[in-house]
Amino acid sequence: MSVQRGGFSTRIGFILAAAGSAVGLGNIWKFPFEVGEGGGAAFVVMYLAFCFILCFPVLVAEISIGRRTKRNAVGAFKVLGHKKWAFIGYLGLASGVLILSFYNVVAAWAFGYFIDILFGTFSVGGEAFGAFTKDWVKVGSYAIIFMVTTAFIVSRGIAGGIERAARILMPTLFIMIIGLIIYAMTLPNAFEGLKFYLVPDFGEITGSVVYSALGQAFFSLSLGMGALITYGSYLSKDSNIVKSAAQITLMDVGVAFLAGFMIFPFVFTQGLEPNGGPGLIFATLPGVFESLGYWAGNVIGAFFFLLLSFAAFTSTISLLEVPTAYMVDEHEIPRSKATWIVAAVIFVVGIPSLLSNGASEALGQFVSLAGAGTLDFMSFVGLIANDTFLPLGGFLIAVFVAYVWRKENFDKELAEGADDLKGSWLQSYVNFAVSYICPLLLGLIFVVTVLDNFFGVKLLTILLG
Ligand code: TRP
Repeated sequence: MSVQRGGFSTRIGFILAAAGSAVGLGNIWKFPFEVGEGGGAAFVVMYLAFCFILCFPVLVAEISIGRRTKRNAVGAFKVLGHKKWAFIGYLGLASGVLILSFYNVVAAWAFGYFIDILFGTFSVGGEAFGAFTKDWVKVGSYAIIFMVTTAFIVSRGIAGGIERAARILMPTLFIMIIGLIIYAMTLPNAFEGLKFYLVPDFGEITGSVVYSALGQAFFSLSLGMGALITYGSYLSKDSNIVKSAAQITLMDVGVAFLAGFMIFPFVFTQGLEPNGGPGLIFATLPGVFESLGYWAGNVIGAFFFLLLSFAAFTSTISLLEVPTAYMVDEHEIPRSKATWIVAAVIFVVGIPSLLSNGASEALGQFVSLAGAGTLDFMSFVGLIANDTFLPLGGFLIAVFVAYVWRKENFDKELAEGADDLKGSWLQSYVNFAVSYICPLLLGLIFVVTVLDNFFGVKLLTILLG
């Protein structure tokens, strides 16, 4: 290979970068509104179960494929399987491009809120969110700033850019969240919020809650599109994959779980509805900050949206890294050139998402689907990429590892850098799950989701009566 690939200089560098990829808007913006729409604690229980039972083994599988092949998401499948298996990688590239196209817009909202609050130009309240997202020139400018900053870091390569950024940003984020939780617990309706969040009503679990919980688990862990194949490809042979994957899962789930402790006391103290959709944190939190008075509100508010921008940034880096690594490895384009081309294309793909939240009426009511109802362009892209492509990718990765690459080779890769793994229950579980539980359950849920969302066929209801 003529182009230098680079690598993570330390194991903790890898963990921080991978956890930085996982922890993002998915934990702090998406998780709370999905919990709110999914009926509260019952959704939380499903999400936790999916993360540990189904996603953790796929996470191990992705990192192993990456470290074994030292290739990008497409090349890795070519090396281990055959050219025809590269389609799993192309599906991943498509997911990555689509996800980053709208993710960057939401990141621009977060960043824009930070800037506006910082300079005191922000008028708070539910109305303000609609007015903010409608102003496409302003949001577009923030989106350009965000994409350019992301591309700058990615263009500098893995060790110099991503690792250094993650090292500073991750611990800062964690401390910021803990501070906001302590504040949330002092609020009058904290208890009511916690009850909604933690006491499950299992009557709330319907088919649609099951699949939004699964989509959320994949999205939150950055799983199912080769982001962790790509990060794993920079990982050295002496690190323990299973242990690293466990740490990443715990960190990601931990931050999402903590975000709930922060958000729901805020929501209930304001007497707001938890099922406010994608605008939940943007439309409701400023009200909380405002109630603190001018100075405290502006400082804490700006602090919060800065936190959110940080979290989003380590995720946009990983999303941009996937297609960039593909261009560098497979087409031998220099990293810097590859990065700027990919970033420009993704920005253009994201323009309709930018316009679909108020600026354009047509894009605001883009499609009507049998099961999912009328969706704006951004939500439609989310439905295709997160809820459909990611679990499909996870299913294909598990099948590929167990039946094409084969279990013996997978085991051998896991054993490198992990002396105590052999014969442990964790190894047995990962093996069993990748071979049977993940293909079966992910395959089943995929079929059910597609039939329901796109064709309005409620297979589970039909089968289970
Ligand atoms: N996991 C990130 C979040 O929760 C988003 C993300 C980053 C992602 N990289 C990804 C999602 C790759 C899917 C695939 O915000």
